[in-house]
Amino acid sequence: MTRFAKRLAVTWWAGGLLALLLLTWSAPLAAMEAPGADAEALWQYINQDAGFRKWGTWPEFVKLRRSFSPFGFFIRVFVNDVALKSRGNTLPPGSILVREGFGMDTNTYAPNDEVLGYTVMYKIKGFNPAASDWFWAHYTGTGKVVASGAVDQCIKCHDTGRDNDFVLDHKVR
Ligand code: HEC
Repeated sequence: MTRFAKRLAVTWWAGGLLALLLLTWSAPLAAMEAPGADAEALWQYINQDAGFRKWGTWPEFVKLRRSFSPFGFFIRVFVNDVALKSRGNTLPPGSILVREGFGMDTNTYAPNDEVLGYTVMYKIKGFNPAASDWFWAHYTGTGKVVASGAVDQCIKCHDTGRDNDFVLDHKVR
């Protein structure tokens, strides 16, 4: 092998190694792709990186508050950037709203820190045009799927907010 060929071989070898290292390092950093209509993939998606608890929210949900639905006595709601940045009277595909429902202390009626469950609205283009393409998901406090899809129970109750893109306690605009 000539000196030149040797040098070339070494450069290629080192370059290849570097590329491989970069690939393996950067892979976990790459954000997950937005999931389809799959409640388990959605759970992983909203829990990646720092998770949905680091998301923002709408003014109505800044504080822990009483809930008037069967999924917790007190709730917090987290809203992803796609929904937060939206302007208009329907939220765009990719919007995710996560409601965290807490239990209540039976003596003091104060919230306790037991998470009773999570209910999630996730908009997927073309998923269910009859009800504004929301994918609905209900999870236990530890993230096990209870129900998901075009869940009748969710849609029936949220239908009172049909003119507000099925969102009940925030004015979509
Ligand atoms: C019996 C009525 C009822 C049913 C059934 C219901 N919800 Fe709701 N939901 C509400 C009410 C009322 C609110 C407003 C905040 C609160 O009081 O909890 C709400 C709020 C929400 C929010 C926060 C955004 C908003 O609309 O204000 C999400 C997310 C949500 N529900 C998801 C679901 C999912 C998923 C299901 C089905 C598993 C479901 N809900 C079923 C009544 C209901």
